[in-house]
Amino acid sequence: MKNIVILISGGGSNMAAIVKTAKTQHWETTLDAKVAAVISNRADAAGLPWAKEQGINTEHIDHKSYVSREAFDQALIQRIDAYNPSLVVLAGFMRILSADFVNHYAGKIVNIHPSLLPAFTGLHTHQRAIDAGCKFAGATVHQVTAELDVGPILAQAVVPVLETDTELTLAARVLTQEHVMYPIAIAKLLASS
Ligand code: GRF
Repeated sequence: MKNIVILISGGGSNMAAIVKTAKTQHWETTLDAKVAAVISNRADAAGLPWAKEQGINTEHIDHKSYVSREAFDQALIQRIDAYNPSLVVLAGFMRILSADFVNHYAGKIVNIHPSLLPAFTGLHTHQRAIDAGCKFAGATVHQVTAELDVGPILAQAVVPVLETDTELTLAARVLTQEHVMYPIAIAKLLASS
């Protein structure tokens, strides 16, 4: 069985989309894969109780309890590796990961970023797209490498930017597409691994 470990920090709507798709598409039989655990660095991440209700292992590891980024990352590695993961999925995990962490999961860690990379790495992507006058925006699924938001691109979803858009309306339009794209990209990776 290929175990998927999903890391979140907040609402977890992408995580929920992956879990729901895994269920409706019977990934356990079709891909020999399952979501083994959802781990958050924030205790109040809304996705945690939801995942627990689905019968998924959930864990909270508070980054503030560790003296350094490296110490937190090492603790996180230990918890993730307890599930013997084939794939680590970042889904709104708001922590910069150390090179040691990323290298430990080389080739089996992916992220979703709310812009059409390589444009707008980092934060506030939707406002920056509006400010730049972009006519299209979107999201990108990519392999994670030591450099933030810069790994090889696996999938992209494109949406129009409307004259009337605010950061919030654009984010909502992009998020809807993320929920479609991320499970497909993950299923593709699992099928080829
Ligand atoms: C998404 O916009 C994703 O692209 C970004 O963080 C947000 C997470 O949202 N990395 P959610 O927690 O999945 O609802």
